[in-house]
Amino acid sequence: MARVAALFVAAAVMAFLAAAPVTAKRWTVGDNKFWNPNVINYTIWAQDKHFYLDDWLYFVYERNQFNVIEVNETNYINCNSNNPIANWTRGAGRDLVYLNETRYYYLISGNGGGCYGGMKLAVLVETPPPTPPASAIKNSAGKRTSTVSAFAYQLVVSVAAFAAVGTMWDALLW
Ligand SMILES: *[C@@H]1O[C@H](CO)[C@@H](O)[C@H](O)[C@H]1NC(C)=O
Ligand SMILES: *[C@@H]1O[C@H](CO)[C@@H](O)[C@H](O)[C@H]1NC(C)=O
Ligand SMILES: *[C@@H]1O[C@H](CO)[C@@H](O)[C@H](O)[C@H]1NC(C)=O
Ligand SMILES: *[C@@H]1O[C@H](CO)[C@@H](O)[C@H](O)[C@H]1NC(C)=O
Repeated sequence: MARVAALFVAAAVMAFLAAAPVTAKRWTVGDNKFWNPNVINYTIWAQDKHFYLDDWLYFVYERNQFNVIEVNETNYINCNSNNPIANWTRGAGRDLVYLNETRYYYLISGNGGGCYGGMKLAVLVETPPPTPPASAIKNSAGKRTSTVSAFAYQLVVSVAAFAAVGTMWDALLW
């Protein structure tokens, strides 16, 4: 009887591990076309995707020609990088933009006419949909705090695994 119970607990732990919380996603902008002029329409690239809070945009490009500048909507439409909201360019041609706010992000390449060649991307960052394990460890504001929740998740898994091992041990001693 105790052995059966131990199996149930072990199965529950396995199921819990399988239902891991949704982790933040890193989007390579343009996929295998990367961040380049005249090869891809970034509006079309983005339109079938959902960008969630704590996701990352990864820009890969020729560092001597282009960059990644965040602007407002007007300056996005006009390809004007003279009044940036943020400069995400780090110099290596490999830039990560951390989407830590639920709003529109407008990103353009302000160098060498890249923006006029279509290097402009607008994404709407949304609150992630609730998943059962993630909602159980969300904070009261409903904001996903990945570091804390990942830690809490590991803690819960450790405790559950420990309990399962304990139960199986009991079953063997029975
Ligand atoms: C964007 O910033 C410019 C100034 O650089 C301003 O004139 C314009 O009204 C702003 N647009 C929006 C949508 O906030
Ligand atoms: C953005 O930052 C990079 C690295 O610090 C710098 O080289 C570049 O001049 C900046 N670009 C703009 C438009 O501010
Ligand atoms: C998001 O990050 C930016 C800089 O990377 C920071 O200025 C801003 O306060 C952050 N927003 C939130 C809600 O943490
Ligand atoms: C990209 O596609 C959008 C939506 O179809 C369109 O409105 C836009 O003009 C296109 N951009 C370019 C640079 O062709």
